[in-house]
Amino acid sequence: MLRVGVLVSGGGTNLQAILDAEKSGIITHASVVYVLSNNRHAYALQRAEAAGIANECISPADFSDRTAFHRALLAAVEREKLDLIVLAGYLVRIPDEMIRRYRGRIVNIHPSLIPSFCGKGAYGLKVHELALRRGVKVTGATVHLVDEGLDEGPILLQKAVEVKTGDTPETLQRRVMEEAEWILLPRAIEEIAREVSERGNRA
Ligand code: GRF
Repeated sequence: MLRVGVLVSGGGTNLQAILDAEKSGIITHASVVYVLSNNRHAYALQRAEAAGIANECISPADFSDRTAFHRALLAAVEREKLDLIVLAGYLVRIPDEMIRRYRGRIVNIHPSLIPSFCGKGAYGLKVHELALRRGVKVTGATVHLVDEGLDEGPILLQKAVEVKTGDTPETLQRRVMEEAEWILLPRAIEEIAREVSERGNRA
């Protein structure tokens, strides 16, 4: 069973989609064992608590400098012996040391069809504002591996979502979450977990 850690910063609807997918049998080869946030007020932590999952807040504000924060973040992840790290709305940059140690084992969900509307400053609602401003007729979500770049790692899954006349950033964000993010992230986790399981069986 793949041990999954989920890093969050906000409401945790993607985390909830993963937990629901475990319950409904969409995810059978992986289990969320740990949730970490940089934001002690993140509702995602309450979702983890309600599901009986170990969770904690490690905030950069609690450390004298970025290096100390990175050291604490890495120590926590190592302690949990995670096989896969899922960034689900996690707004803090992953330290390069962590990317090196977990290369190919950190995935991120981004609310657009990368390479559109990604990179510096393009996160959360801002992504949908950019899409509406550009006037695209189709947007969507992307699950990709995390490397040292910003939203530049290898793309694993994408799903298109229609932009509707009269959409606001909020209505578009909701549709992208419902029709893409909450489907793609559980699917990606299960596909990775099955691949690891089958590789283990072949070994
Ligand atoms: C989502 O829009 C996701 O695409 C982006 O950040 C937001 C996280 O939402 N990465 P939630 O915390 O999962 O509800």
